[in-house]
Parts: sequence; C-alpha cells; structure tokens
Amino acid sequence: MRLDKYICDSTEISRKDAKTIIRRGEVTVNDKVCKNAAYHVADTDKIVHDNNELTLIGLRYIMLHKPMDMICSTVDEAYPSILNLIDVQKHGDLRIAGRLDADTTGLILISDDGKWTHRIMSPKSDCNKTYQVWLAEPISAEAIAQIESGVQLNNEKELTKPATVEIIDEKQVNLTISEGKYHQVKRMFAATGNKVTYLHRTQIGALKLDADLPEGEWRYLTAEEIAFY
Ligand code: URA
Repeated sequence: MRLDKYICDSTEISRKDAKTIIRRGEVTVNDKVCKNAAYHVADTDKIVHDNNELTLIGLRYIMLHKPMDMICSTVDEAYPSILNLIDVQKHGDLRIAGRLDADTTGLILISDDGKWTHRIMSPKSDCNKTYQVWLAEPISAEAIAQIESGVQLNNEKELTKPATVEIIDEKQVNLTISEGKYHQVKRMFAATGNKVTYLHRTQIGALKLDADLPEGEWRYLTAEEIAFY
C-alpha cells in the first residue's frame, strides 16, 4: 500500500492532507524522513507521524447495548445517535445493522464492513431477531397462534412471516422474527389488540447480547462471532 493511503487508513487524515504532511517531511519510515507519497509500505515498516506510530485501522465489528432515548440514525435528531457512544477513529465510516426505536433497548451490531451489515439486514438473509416483549394486557392463546402463523399489519401487502413466541408469563414473552419492518414487533402485537409497553432485543442470528454488557457500553466482536454472518 502507498504511504499516503497508509496514513489515510490509519488516521482521520485525508488523502490530500497525507500528501501534504509527507511532502513537508513530517512522516518517517523506519526512523528516516520519507517524502515520497508513493513509497510502498512493507508489513515490517514503522511509520511515524507526530510522535505516533501508525497502525492500519482495518474493519471494525461491534456489539453495542443500546440504551433508552438514543436513536439508530447516524446523525443526532430528536435524540442523540448511538454512534456518540463509540469513541473510535473514523467514526463516520461506521454503519448500524438494523434499527431499534428510541424507546427500545438491546443488541445492536455496527461495522464499517458494508457487505457484512448488508448480510444481516437483507430480507433475503432471513436473519432471526429475538426480543423480550412486555405487554399491557395478558396474551391470549389466539394472539399467540396469530403471531406465530402471520398477522396482517396496517399498510402491508402480505402477512408477517411465521414467528416464534415463548411465554415467560401472561404479560411477558420472547418473540423471534425473521423480518425487520418498521416498528414490526409493536405493530404485530397491536394487530392482536395488545400493546407493547417495553421492548428489548437479546439476539440477532446466532449472536446474543452479553448478559454483563451494561447499557450504553460496547465491545469488538471476536473473529468467530464475525464469521456468523
Ligand atoms: N420492532 C419494534 O416495534 N421496535 C423496535 O425497536 C424493533 C422491532
């Protein structure tokens, strides 16, 4: 990789500014000033700028425990974006794989690997998502049967895909769905005449939210976890 690109991929510095600092003699390669932006960086080279040894940032894969009153947009709107919780370089490259409402908490996956986030979100992937659902009214056997076989949501052409309901108690269930329509879980229960009072996502595909990851905290995924998608 060229030296100017290496600097760009390891810092917030733009390609244009990388060329400028190289030309000014502010970058060293193996402790010697290098003014050649096209220099081919070898794996063993030590690149230093401003007394910092630079390392490539690479692709990031993150699990975040979304708190209440934050949104999954990449910019702040009525509430702050969850990306404010992630203090890393090249913050603007991160993309959120699937949204939760401002009042929903739980598992969010974030990455700058667009193909990976697409695999999670694409309707073709049929990626299961599990939610803990708290309800205003006791759930009936009829509502469970409706939700498991498919319900008609307002303004949708087709029934929801088959889902799985696990009863925790009469006003709390775990629901697993493979779709991600706007406000889907709340609308599914509304279609049965009930109301969701609190919603928390615990799982996406094979990946479960760490039980000990506090709200608002995040961690990098392991190579094994990244390979799930
Ligand atoms: N379904 C909803 O209704 N809200 C969410 O945040 C996620 C799924």
